[in-house]
Amino acid sequence: MEQYIIKGGNPLVGEVEIGGAKNAALAILAAAIMTDETVMIDNLPDVNDINVLLEAIEGIGAMVQRIDRHTVKINGSGIRSFDIEYDYIKKIRASYYLLGALLGKYNHAEVALPGGCNIGSRPIDQHLKGFRALGADVDIEHGKIIAETEHLVGKHIYFDVVSVGATINVMMAAALADGQTIMENVAKEPHVVDVANFLNSMGANIRGAGTDVIKIRGVSRLHRTSYSIIPDQIEAGTFMFAAAATRGDVTVLNVIPKHLEATIAKLVEIGCEVEEFDDAVRVVSKGDLHNTHVKTLPYPGFPTDMQPQIGVTLALCKGTSTITESIFENRFKYLDELARMGANVKIEGNSATIEGVEKFSAARVSAPDLRAGAALVIAGLAADGITIVDDIVYIQRGYERFEEKLRSLGAMIEKVSTEREIQKFRLKVG
Ligand code: EPZ
Repeated sequence: MEQYIIKGGNPLVGEVEIGGAKNAALAILAAAIMTDETVMIDNLPDVNDINVLLEAIEGIGAMVQRIDRHTVKINGSGIRSFDIEYDYIKKIRASYYLLGALLGKYNHAEVALPGGCNIGSRPIDQHLKGFRALGADVDIEHGKIIAETEHLVGKHIYFDVVSVGATINVMMAAALADGQTIMENVAKEPHVVDVANFLNSMGANIRGAGTDVIKIRGVSRLHRTSYSIIPDQIEAGTFMFAAAATRGDVTVLNVIPKHLEATIAKLVEIGCEVEEFDDAVRVVSKGDLHNTHVKTLPYPGFPTDMQPQIGVTLALCKGTSTITESIFENRFKYLDELARMGANVKIEGNSATIEGVEKFSAARVSAPDLRAGAALVIAGLAADGITIVDDIVYIQRGYERFEEKLRSLGAMIEKVSTEREIQKFRLKVG
């Protein structure tokens, strides 16, 4: 199994290019099959989740042509199957976006029911509630969701929970329903807006994405488009907190500062200097950092996908900080690993109390999930000694060339998979 090996202690300094948003791209790739014409998508992040979803799309008969690492052409006219195999869903839950896309276009979709994951049970009842509201019969048989209808009819839908996935999935199906759909209590994340903009570039009629109410006038068909994915605010925030935790000076390039407002606010609160430019943000962390309090919330609140990254940083800030994780029920596992590096943390239910310490001591740790794994890399960068992070396959799902980008900022980090490579690294860094 591949691991990251890290010699901590170097402040991160320099500039780093941010890639396309994984969570926007996954939904947009699914939506791309909703036309029989060719769709060109660029600024795709070259990460495992994207590559698995492209395999799933090809697997049902769509044409998928990779132009380069970050650009793909898709044509859904050849789709012959509406059945998404379990092993795709097992690899990435976001395959369930094909439910909304196939139901919208073909009035039929069969997708294996996604299980839970390391951060929580991840129910999809709101997705199914939306499809049923649009007139689909939705049954669960032998671990598979079967959704079908004569035709979808627009409806007024009020979600019980603010859900990114349900908002996007139902919005896709409603784009080709008859009449008007009004969706309330929806998610407002930048990637929800990106999917709405993508669908509108294909001829859909969606208004209000990014607000609490989305109005959709169904159209009869969607057409070709060329589209560029928005920058990944979670990748950007990860590098911004890495700058803070290593007392560095990092500028993230090709970002939309507005999407980073909650992150920037917290970095300023703990004592970092933050400078915003049109499409870049600079984070400088010189002196001592101090505590703050965080509660994760749907956008524009502080993102749950940034919770492990701020958790690691707060563990190195003077004073007592608290984190309340209000979105997922099991997103503190990284704190147990961090305690093994000397962090002083106490978890009670969905809240964690963190007493800042001077330094982490390097250890061998294991990535429990994607964002926690990235946070443990940040911990290794700030620790005294050599840290090894296991199970980095999680990190590779959502971060493109993570170790290369960190090395370009002065980090001593390598991807290894044998004891010999580990020894070589130890000799090299001394
Ligand atoms: C998306 O997951 C992201 N994944 C997650 O990012 C992110 O953490 C999450 O949104 C919140 O921002 C993708 O976009 C592929 P939700 P999603 O539906 O859509 C409950 C990462 O690190 N809920 O907004 O699954 C749910 O249990 C990943 O990139 C229901 O109760 O999240 C949770 O408590 C991790 N019923 C809350 O809503 C439903 O039908 C928010 O979940 C759906 C969700």
